[in-house]
Amino acid sequence: MSSSNYIHVNSSLHSGRKRLGVLRVMLASTVVFFSIVSLYFSHNQVSRIHEVSGHHRAKKLRLREELAKHNLLRLASKGLVHSLGNNSLKENGNQRQNKTKQRLSRPVPKDLDIAPLQAAIIKTLEEGRDGIKEDRVVQKTVKKGEKQASSVVNFTLPKTSSNVTASIQATTNSTYIDVPFKRYDKVVIVTKIHGPHQWEILEQSFCLLHHAYNHKVLYDIVVFTAEPVPQDNVDNLQKMLGNAKLSVELDNRGFQEEIAALPPNKYNHFLEMCNVTTPANLTWWSECKFRLAYNWQAEFRSLHIWHHPALKEYKYMLWMDTDGFCAKPWQKDPVEYFIENDGVIMFDHFPQAQTNMKIQPHIYHGFNKTICELKLNEEGNLVSRLGEEGECYQRGVPNIHGFFHITNLDFYRSAPVKNGLEKLFGDCFLCRVPDDQLAVTAPAAILAPERSWEMRGKGFHLDVFHNGMMDGLDIAKPAGFKKYWAEVGKFDLPSADGICPIVAKN
Ligand SMILES: *[C@@H]1O[C@H](CO)[C@@H](O)[C@H](O)[C@H]1NC(C)=O
Ligand SMILES: *[C@@H]1O[C@H](CO)[C@@H](O)[C@H](O)[C@H]1NC(C)=O
Ligand SMILES: *[C@@H]1O[C@H](CO)[C@@H](O)[C@H](O)[C@H]1NC(C)=O
Ligand SMILES: *[C@@H]1O[C@H](CO)[C@@H](O)[C@H](O)[C@H]1NC(C)=O
Ligand SMILES: *[C@@H]1O[C@H](CO)[C@@H](O)[C@H](O)[C@H]1NC(C)=O
Ligand SMILES: *[C@@H]1O[C@H](CO)[C@@H](O)[C@H](O)[C@H]1NC(C)=O
Ligand SMILES: *[C@@H]1O[C@H](CO)[C@@H](O)[C@H](O)[C@H]1NC(C)=O
Ligand SMILES: *[C@@H]1O[C@H](CO)[C@@H](O)[C@H](O)[C@H]1NC(C)=O
Repeated sequence: MSSSNYIHVNSSLHSGRKRLGVLRVMLASTVVFFSIVSLYFSHNQVSRIHEVSGHHRAKKLRLREELAKHNLLRLASKGLVHSLGNNSLKENGNQRQNKTKQRLSRPVPKDLDIAPLQAAIIKTLEEGRDGIKEDRVVQKTVKKGEKQASSVVNFTLPKTSSNVTASIQATTNSTYIDVPFKRYDKVVIVTKIHGPHQWEILEQSFCLLHHAYNHKVLYDIVVFTAEPVPQDNVDNLQKMLGNAKLSVELDNRGFQEEIAALPPNKYNHFLEMCNVTTPANLTWWSECKFRLAYNWQAEFRSLHIWHHPALKEYKYMLWMDTDGFCAKPWQKDPVEYFIENDGVIMFDHFPQAQTNMKIQPHIYHGFNKTICELKLNEEGNLVSRLGEEGECYQRGVPNIHGFFHITNLDFYRSAPVKNGLEKLFGDCFLCRVPDDQLAVTAPAAILAPERSWEMRGKGFHLDVFHNGMMDGLDIAKPAGFKKYWAEVGKFDLPSADGICPIVAKN
């Protein structure tokens, strides 16, 4: 049994209506189950339950009754009324004009009575946590340009397994209770850039990740780069990452040196692919069907990363692309879930594109199976139907989206995966296909689909922005990140507002 529990009470003004909008109470247990219930309330009365679906309905109702019994609903709504003060929507509208009138203007009410809240939380953690999943529907209640007020009250939650210290965070439209996450051993956060030209976007991405998540657990960070990065840049990023240890690692011997070191079959295949007789004039920026720098990141992440000495001491890797941007605090820790339940991969999004059916014989060559079908089931697990030699050679393979996932390094380092991937790649060097998405998908699909999970399917609704989408699933509104940050993100993640450089749109 690990120690972290998380409770979230989030409420919001429903724009254009008098009714106070949504109260969400999320309770996370430490083992397997996470709970959330969403409620509408009006004039301190619960009027109806929002987005209750299927077989979770009964459990949600039970939790609601439990919370109501312990006065949580009334308390929370009272807290909301206080923290919003008597600000009407009209008033918020006027504030929009005043760019200087910003945060820290409205405190959490001094008379907020925490005791009943604690009692309800504890009781619910002890009794009511089984099987309630987080709603997939996110309420869109943001009024453009609304200003943020935020303040914090700290308190302890006694009698839980670990007596964690929590805090109530109150912002303009949300009040939530924030508890620490447990820090596990052998976890590393990793990304890759090609070189210094991508440093700014890396700073944006990893500064946001720090404020949304890593400030609580301070996992080490390893940044792979194909070209050296000035120490000044590294120092600057380190300053944004507090006490998390940052290291920057070169991921190749040099472009020409990598080519020179190839075995003859790979060397010849490569020259043929690039339609040259010597590699002398090729660079990372040459296009051989696709830009070689891009292909190198895909190949590095497919074959080499698992065995790189910089990751030797680690067992779990959280991968975030440098254009993945966190935009709100992570309310539950997916790494904790992943480790406690012994996953091989946990991904933000599936499927992202398909690998062409021509890959099937190569998959067979590597893993003695083909992948006829690959889907997500209701529990958020991958489910695969596999084929024998010659079967399903007409089917493409849907991929796990590579921009953000957690992987079990021991699984991807294991002999069947290592040998399988090497055979799958065959003579390829810097080919566009196979890529890193297939390289994480195929072993998981064939060897351990039941340990391969979608984050939302397991109750983790992190809303990481990537290419204009949240978690690869919902269209971000507004679509560009700078706008998204100005209108939504900085209110949800106020600790990063004015701290993280927001320079990149996508
Ligand atoms: C809101 O305003 C009304 C009328 O002006 C007042 O009676 C009430 O106490 C105020 N509520 C809060 C929470 O300030
Ligand atoms: C904007 O807010 C600042 C700081 O709170 C205040 O000094 C100023 O008078 C406000 N301006 C308007 C137009 O409300
Ligand atoms: C709440 O706790 C945090 C972390 O321990 C601390 O930094 C902060 O100052 C505390 N805030 C208050 C209002 O006590
Ligand atoms: C939690 O606090 C209670 C009361 O202060 C104490 O008896 C108990 O030992 C504490 N539990 C842990 C795990 O620290
Ligand atoms: C390969 O290069 C040769 C000469 O350099 C050129 O004639 C030929 O069209 C190229 N082939 C392809 C497929 O690009
Ligand atoms: C490499 O580029 C140089 C300068 O453009 C050119 O003179 C030379 O012929 C090229 N060599 C090969 C092998 O293509
Ligand atoms: C595939 O079959 C070969 C030969 O029977 C065997 O050596 C290899 O371990 C198998 N690979 C997997 C992943 O089962
Ligand atoms: C208000 O809450 C909603 C729902 O949680 C969130 O999407 C939105 O960004 C929040 N808006 C502000 C201004 O905090």
